[in-house]
Amino acid sequence: MLKQIVRGFFNLFGLNLVRVQKNIPVPEPVKEPEPEWPKTIEGNVYDLVRPYANYSPWLGDKLFHNLYGEIRKNTLVDIFRCFELWEIAGKIHGLDPEAAFIEIGVWRGGTAAVVGKKLSLLKAETPFYLADTYTGVKKSSEKDAFYFDNEHADTSEEMVRDLLQDKYSHYVFLNGIFPEDTAHLVPEGSRFGYCHIDVDVYNSANDVVTWIWEKLIPGGVIVFDDYGFHTCTGITQFVNEQKLKNDRMIIHNLNGHAIMVKIR
Ligand SMILES: C[S@@+](CC[C@H](N)C(=O)[O-])C[C@H]1O[C@@H](n2cnc3c(N)ncnc32)[C@H](O)[C@@H]1O
Repeated sequence: MLKQIVRGFFNLFGLNLVRVQKNIPVPEPVKEPEPEWPKTIEGNVYDLVRPYANYSPWLGDKLFHNLYGEIRKNTLVDIFRCFELWEIAGKIHGLDPEAAFIEIGVWRGGTAAVVGKKLSLLKAETPFYLADTYTGVKKSSEKDAFYFDNEHADTSEEMVRDLLQDKYSHYVFLNGIFPEDTAHLVPEGSRFGYCHIDVDVYNSANDVVTWIWEKLIPGGVIVFDDYGFHTCTGITQFVNEQKLKNDRMIIHNLNGHAIMVKIR
């Protein structure tokens, strides 16, 4: 009642009485998060790739699955790509049991273990060359938007030898920049069926393909680990350039691999 009388008094003079509340928190303006994908980087469109297919043989193959469990801390490569290497290795050995294998970019030995174990199970005796600097990536250039020299130096030849000692008996270690430092250790006349390129940058991939192409058997395969990843722009560019050549077929697997098959 008193409140109304006081209010009425102020209203007589055209004034309105209100209670002032102190310390009312001012709400922050709500910011919508920027969508991370899709994005265009160096002229290529990237989005998260989530196929709808659900056939998952990597879960049903006990030998592979146990092996992957053992080596997973020694690899940057996911189970999908490791399983693909496991299968390709078997197929290539069946095509030509004499054809040699090579991996450039071993890091801590994970993918070399997967393929070496498969060769062992098939009782193969062909050399499996393993090339790494053990001081990280080399030959990065302006073509590689995210990679710089010496990344992935957190490894050693001893660490790899330790992982691989029970996987295959015919590994050959090539310690240094490939091909210039170590390719002379590969005997003249060697023929290859399998080449896994996991070097992250354009110039190294280019030098490896130039070195191996004439040594690759028809039906032989080069797998590029890094093709489908926005962090490896140089590899995407390099493989796309190769698509123009008619002596090779290139398959883009949605797991991120590019698989190049020599068709003539
Ligand atoms: C991404 S890691 C390889 C990952 C490995 N395949 C795995 O199972 O996780 C890249 C490796 O390539 C090596 N590398 C890059 N360019 C090279 C070159 N031209 N010669 C030898 N090694 C190279 C680096 O030292 C590094 O260990």
